[in-house]
Amino acid sequence: MSRSQPPLPIWLHWLESCPSTNSWAIAHLPQLQHGDVVYTPQQTAGRGQHGRVWHSPPGVLTASFVLEHIPVAQLPVISLGAGLSVIYAVEDLLPSLQGTLRLKWSNDVLLNGRKLAGILCEATASGTLGRVVVGIGLNCRVDFEQAGLDISTIGQAISLHQVSPLVPDPLLLLDRLRHYLLQTAGLLKPEQNTGESTGLTALLPALRSRNALLGHTIIVETGSEQVTGQAAGISDRGYLLLQLPNGEVRSFVSGHILWNHE
Ligand code: BTN
Repeated sequence: MSRSQPPLPIWLHWLESCPSTNSWAIAHLPQLQHGDVVYTPQQTAGRGQHGRVWHSPPGVLTASFVLEHIPVAQLPVISLGAGLSVIYAVEDLLPSLQGTLRLKWSNDVLLNGRKLAGILCEATASGTLGRVVVGIGLNCRVDFEQAGLDISTIGQAISLHQVSPLVPDPLLLLDRLRHYLLQTAGLLKPEQNTGESTGLTALLPALRSRNALLGHTIIVETGSEQVTGQAAGISDRGYLLLQLPNGEVRSFVSGHILWNHE
């Protein structure tokens, strides 16, 4: 007699293999709903921030989460909320994890200063509301050397199994991640009577207390310039604040951060 598997949750789209869960979710968006999750244990052409390739060796959890009814003005802060969701999900499931989880604005989660997870948010909007596909790559049980990654990448990355004897089952992780992402989306939703969203205000204390960059000298690369300064915090709108050598403080809504934190 064979034991039957428990049914998968209805929100889960489990693909044996696919090039990119984000691309799959975007291509199937009309058929997907708020809270749906696309997961594959074998992503063959993952995409990262700024058009880069995201390597998905065995042991990386690769999934995309669909969120709807997000005010267009709040779209830039979704990846910050997603970063917090990763932190909370990992802390829930591994309460005795040896390490400190922090956010590297705006889309990386660091564990003990090394990259544990990357986030790629892709949005479509019609009118004032948008739908977002939140792609998360979370290193769970990755053997970086076997994956053939170069030594500098290995030095900057970390996998949960390196700091915890237990690594949660993908389904449990997906469930917790979805729970916190839906909570974030709920916070960012516009108020019924005012149309305003107060959600970012609720997220700011956690975003600020988990800010890995604070006080460090960093380079912010935008499409047009590279600006060096000291990370001075996160603004009320979720933007990165950078204090320049002349004392001026500039804010950035997006950008790639170069940071030598060794
Ligand atoms: C980054 O750090 O550059 C972001 C990486 C995001 C990777 C995830 S894996 C699941 C989803 N599908 C993709 O193709 N990319 C995201």
